[in-house]
Amino acid sequence: MPDIKDINDIETIILDFYEKVKVDKLLRPFFFGEKPTKWEKHIPLMISFWENVLFYSGNYEGDPLLIHRKINKIKATETKHFERWNNLFDETVNAHFKGANAEKMKQHAQAIAEIMLSKIEPSN
Ligand code: HEM
Repeated sequence: MPDIKDINDIETIILDFYEKVKVDKLLRPFFFGEKPTKWEKHIPLMISFWENVLFYSGNYEGDPLLIHRKINKIKATETKHFERWNNLFDETVNAHFKGANAEKMKQHAQAIAEIMLSKIEPSN
């Protein structure tokens, strides 16, 4: 199995991952609430985010923690949601790629999930 080598490989993962998220009972509601996610914006944004993490492209300037604080106020993101998010994410990466970049991507996602869980106040 190949390792992740470029933006096309990241796109493969992101497209596959959000197809799983869209039909996941636990995660789906976060993306189809009052302000439904504009997928044509979210997908390229996530590809840029990961391109920056893996290849230091410098083309992502968002603030994920701030965004997830807002999301948490609308509907609380709890341990079980992050666990599902990370499981689906690992599963998706492992289905396509193996190697140093694949490991880096999974570890980074895990680290961010832990930071989000510890820095986002429970809203209830
Ligand atoms: C409980 C688990 C999670 C849920 C329910 C969740 C949900 C969401 C939602 C609803 C959005 C906004 C989509 C829109 O624009 O409509 C978003 C954005 C985003 N999420 Fe998550 N997320 C989760 C975990 C994570 C993790 C672990 C990461 C780590 C890589 C992550 C990275 C991002 C990034 C980078 C954005 C884009 C922020 C921006 O607008 O710049 N999320 N997420």
